[in-house]
Amino acid sequence: MNNLTKSEIIEILKDDSQNEQLFSEADKIRKKFVGDEVHLRGLIEFSNICKRTCKYCGLRAENKSISRYRITEDDIVFYAQKAAELGYKTIVLQSGEDEFYSRDIICNIIKKIKELNVALTLSIGERSFDDFKAFKDSGADRYLIRIETTDKELYKKMHPHMDFANRIKCLEYIKELGYEVGTGCLVGLPYQTIESLANDILFFKEINADMVGIGPFISHPDTPLNNAENGSFIQAVKVMAITRIMLPDINIPATTAMETLNPNGRIIALQSGANVVMPNVTSTEYRAKYEIYPNKICINENPVQCRNCIENKIKSIGRTIASDYGFHKKF
Ligand code: 5AD
Ligand code: FES
Repeated sequence: MNNLTKSEIIEILKDDSQNEQLFSEADKIRKKFVGDEVHLRGLIEFSNICKRTCKYCGLRAENKSISRYRITEDDIVFYAQKAAELGYKTIVLQSGEDEFYSRDIICNIIKKIKELNVALTLSIGERSFDDFKAFKDSGADRYLIRIETTDKELYKKMHPHMDFANRIKCLEYIKELGYEVGTGCLVGLPYQTIESLANDILFFKEINADMVGIGPFISHPDTPLNNAENGSFIQAVKVMAITRIMLPDINIPATTAMETLNPNGRIIALQSGANVVMPNVTSTEYRAKYEIYPNKICINENPVQCRNCIENKIKSIGRTIASDYGFHKKF
C-alpha cells in the first residue's frame, strides 16, 4: 500500500467516487503509525519582505499594495517565549526571502529561542550551504522548503528568475546537515497536471521527507494569477491522504490554506492523514500583512485565542495534543 505506482496514484487522483475510502485509509495509517496525538507548532511570521517574485504569492517583491514589516530580533524572541508559555514545543520561524536577516542575526535568534527548550524549525527560503550549516550549528532542528511543484516547466513559469536545480540542492544540503527535512507542494496551480501531482508525491518519497505540507493554490488579487481559479480543497486533501499512505510515519500538517477554502478544513485534514497543526503565534498587528493568499484565517485573533480554538477543535474529534517535541520517529 505504501508503494503505489505513478499510474495508481493518477487513477486515485482522477476518480472522485472513492474519496471517502481514501480518506479513511489514510486516517487508519495515521493512527497506526503516528497515533492520535496532534503536534502543535507555533508559527512566527517575522517578515513579509521578499526578494522573490513567485507568481502566486502575495508577498512577491512586485506587489506594491501590501504594507511591509520586519519584526525585531527581540520581539521575535518575545513571541517565541509567549508561545513556549502557551505550551508549544516547536517554534517555526517563517518569512519571505529577506536578506536583512543575515546569517549572524538568524543564528542569534536561534540560540536565544533554543534556550526556551523548544524544537526550532526554519522556513526562510533558499540560503547558502554555509548559512544552513551555521543555523544548524546554532541549534535549528528542522527546515521547511516546499518544492512547490516538481514539474520543471511549471516551476519555471511560476518562479521567474529562480532555479529548480538550486531548490533541489537546498533540500540536499539540509538533509546532509542533519535537519529534519520538510517539503511540500501546491495543488491546483494553473497548468498543473494530475500527472505532475503524482510525481510530487513520488518525489516526497524519493527524498525521504520528514514532513510534507500540502495546500491548495488560492488566487491572490495582487498577483499575476489574479484571474486564475483556486485549487480544489478536495484535491489537496487527496494529495495529502496519498502522501500519508506512501510515507506512513512522517509529520503532515493540516494546512491553513485548506481551512481558508473550507471552514472545517483542518479537521477534515486531521481525519484524512494529518497529525500536525501550525497555529499562528505572531501578534495580531502583523497577521493581515502576511497575506500570502487572501482570506487567510486567524488574522483578527491573537496567540491565546488560536491556541484555545485549535485545542477545542482537536479535542472535539477525540484527538489529544502531544506534549513532546514531535520529531519524525526515525530521528
Ligand atoms: N495559495 C496557496 N498557498 C500559497 N503559498 C504561497 N502563495 C500561495 C497561494 N497563493 C504557499 C507556498 C509557500 C507557503 C509558505 O505558502 O507553498 O511555500
Ligand atoms: Fe486561530 Fe482558530 S486557530 S482562530
